[in-house]
This record gives sequence, C-alpha cells and structure tokens, in this order.
Amino acid sequence: MNRNIAIDGPAGAGKSTIARRVAERLGFVYVDTGAMYRAIGIYMLDHGVGKEDKEAVGQALEEISIELRYVDGQQQVLLNGVLLGDRLRSEEAGMAASDFAPLPMVREKLLKLQQDLAAKMDVVMDGRDIGTKVLPDAACKIYLTASSRERAQRRFLELKEKGQTADLDQIEQDIKARDEQDMNREVSPLRQAEDAVLVDTSRMGIEEVTERILEIAANGS
Ligand code: DC
Repeated sequence: MNRNIAIDGPAGAGKSTIARRVAERLGFVYVDTGAMYRAIGIYMLDHGVGKEDKEAVGQALEEISIELRYVDGQQQVLLNGVLLGDRLRSEEAGMAASDFAPLPMVREKLLKLQQDLAAKMDVVMDGRDIGTKVLPDAACKIYLTASSRERAQRRFLELKEKGQTADLDQIEQDIKARDEQDMNREVSPLRQAEDAVLVDTSRMGIEEVTERILEIAANGS
C-alpha cells in the first residue's frame, strides 16, 4: 500500500527539518528533492554552463550522475561519485538550483529518479512539485508555508548560530526572489495541490508542526 507523504512549500518554510522528523517518527525514508536540484545547479556553476544555452545544458545533463545514499538515516548526495558537503546548503547552490529547475530537461531527469525511490520504499519527500507532479497519488499531501519575514528570520538565526554575519532584509529579498521564480515558472510551478492540507508554520514550533503532520498523515486532515 502506498503510504508516501508529499511535502511542498516555499524556500525556508522548514520543509527539510520537518520532513526529516516525520520520517524518523514513522520509520520512512526522507527524500530531499531540493538537494538533487542543488547538485545540478552546482555542476552548472562549476562548469560555467548558462541556463540559456540549451545545448550545453543538455550535454551537461548527460555527464551528470546523481546518486543518493543513506547513512544513519541521513541523505547524502553524490555528484558523479563525489560527496557534496556543506556547499549543497549554500544560498549560491539554492539560487542555481532555482535557475535551472524551470528547464523541462532538468526536471525530466530528476522526476524518474524521485518516482523510482518512492515506488521502492515508504518516503517522506519534500520539494516544490511533489504533490502536484512527482507523487500525485501520495497518501498524504502537505503544503507547508510561513510568511517571508518569518522564513528570513529563521535563516538569519541559523547563519548567526554558525557564526556567519547576515543581513535580514537581504535574506528576505533573496527568499522573495526565489518564491517568485519557483511559483511563476511554466513547468511544475510551486503551488498547493488541491488535495493538500495547508500548514502555516509562522507561529508554530518544530515539535508542534511535526505533531500536526503526523496527525494529518494518520487522519487525513
Ligand atoms: O528546497 P530547496 O531550497 O533545497 O530547493 C532548491 C531549489 O530547487 C528551489 O528553489 C527550486 C528547486 N526545486 C524544484 O524546482 N523542485 C523540487 N521538487 C525541489 C526543488
């Protein structure tokens, strides 16, 4: 029986933190699809491929192999056999992912990988088009969101904890730019699936959101 859980939402809504916790509680595998787009973005950056040069993008996609590995329940991403570390989570990688994600050939490459994973095991999969496109028959669909200010504030605190300096207004602007790009592209734009349950996490803590999603997964609402 299909027990897969799809979690979609804008950048910084807390999808990965929550999806990881929900997966742990249910004994499912957490699949972070954003990391796959980030890996492609990193490759394109490092090889100087521009998103307008379709031929170069096509060529690069043929050269790219993405592999997911699970170590102690954590997803690791290997790009052509090389483990991607902290750079995967950088703003640079996030924006490059968002730049290349609208291209149909990029999405096609990852769609199959994502659907194959979900067919093999019970997953909590997060991204932008999981409920609408990748797993339209998921047993449970969640649309996780929060205000752009709140999302920027969380990111700001995260950077501060790592000892990095950051500008809150700049972070909010970057978040809005990414929302704009992800929601307004032609192919698989970010939107709430008709049968997804909306969870606004602006005033909720991590534990509370996790419990809410487990409740939705168990009862359907
Ligand atoms: O969730 P994230 O911040 O790691 O995602 C990075 C970018 O990848 C995001 O801005 C858009 C793209 N993406 C996508 O288009 N579809 C997905 N399922 C996941 C991510």
